[in-house]
Amino acid sequence: MNINKTLLTLSLSATFLPSLSNAGEVEVLHWWTSGGEAKSVQELKAMLEEQGHSWKDFAVAGGGGESAMTVLKTRAVSGNPPSAAQIKGHDIQEWGGLGFLTNLDDVAQSGKWDDVVPTMVTDVMKFNGEYVAVPVNVHRVNWLWANPEVLKKAGVGVPKTLDEFFAAAEKIKAAGYIPLAHGGQPWQDATVFEAVALDVLGSDDYRKAFVELDMDTLSGDKMVEVFTKFKKVHDYIDANSPGRDWNVATSMVINGEAAMQIMGDWAKGEFTAAGKVPGKDYICAPAPGTDGQFTHNVDSFAFFEIKDEANVSAQKALAATILDKDFQEVFNLNKGSIPVRTDMDMSAFDQCALDSMATFKASAKTGDLVPSMAHGMSTTSYAQGAIYDVVTNFFNDPNADPKEAAQKLAKAVKAAI
Ligand code: BGC
Repeated sequence: MNINKTLLTLSLSATFLPSLSNAGEVEVLHWWTSGGEAKSVQELKAMLEEQGHSWKDFAVAGGGGESAMTVLKTRAVSGNPPSAAQIKGHDIQEWGGLGFLTNLDDVAQSGKWDDVVPTMVTDVMKFNGEYVAVPVNVHRVNWLWANPEVLKKAGVGVPKTLDEFFAAAEKIKAAGYIPLAHGGQPWQDATVFEAVALDVLGSDDYRKAFVELDMDTLSGDKMVEVFTKFKKVHDYIDANSPGRDWNVATSMVINGEAAMQIMGDWAKGEFTAAGKVPGKDYICAPAPGTDGQFTHNVDSFAFFEIKDEANVSAQKALAATILDKDFQEVFNLNKGSIPVRTDMDMSAFDQCALDSMATFKASAKTGDLVPSMAHGMSTTSYAQGAIYDVVTNFFNDPNADPKEAAQKLAKAVKAAI
């Protein structure tokens, strides 16, 4: 046991370490199954076990978590929910409204969560003013990951605008590489789509479209331009993209088969797990045209109402551990995200994380901090599902018309809300 972990155990023990008699079990549903993700969640398991509790892993593979949410619904309606589940953003309110979640206010008060986590995050973790979920991290979604060797061989630099991206992609293709590694799954299509939208619409209209669900913005001329540019991106992905997992796409950038990937910074977790160093083996840069803007995606665990006393004590220990400083550091170093606590020493973090933290803070002041639509932060799962459908169908249909797509987008959202 290392000294930090010993201290963690001691500090948590003051409040929530069980005596041997009330050592319980937590069953935790999550979708962290890629290399970097699995390493990250392993840290949580280890820290919980050090406190005498046991961890029953309930991993449901599938990036973005769609499959995990489907499985969770089945378990919950059969009256047998797990202790905690990876549930984010608006979904927390939906689960709270159904009466499934438990009150964590005692843990929150002793951990002073209100003082160390930004209000914009704690607001999402509360249902009717009571904590029902715990935030883990802050992911930035609008990133471009690049292999510097491949860029060099193609004679291009890191593209800063979409025009530069398209020009670079042409040269990369001509040099015999795949310009953009992409996994053709609806959530990945939506991740690239929202990066293009952030640039073309700007932060205010992005918010109008995906937070306020403003019909004029969803169907307007700028949205037509978003679809037009998004369509062009398709020219630079390979034919094997459909169905590919996101981490397989990341590995194509790691091994030099592809030049770039537009993906949230969980991709950094894959580079880290492969022993790669930012600035040397790979480059992290804002998605083209989105410098200074920050699309956020906060991971969190919601906690379910359970009966067994020992398991409730294990559940509270898990909640306390997630916001423990040592956990925040080691988890986020592996995951690629930044800590959600504002009082962290960032000296162990790399340049990508420091850039992310700086942009997170600055963008909150300039109005350029926006919630991710693709990752459930900006709107309900219903509206998100409607957007996914239109975006994916459009991306996969070579004859699709951008103008029609924008109209379909507004109609589909209207029908879903
Ligand atoms: C989650 C990340 C996860 C990614 C890929 C996102 O929605 O927020 O934590 O790594 O999906 O699975």
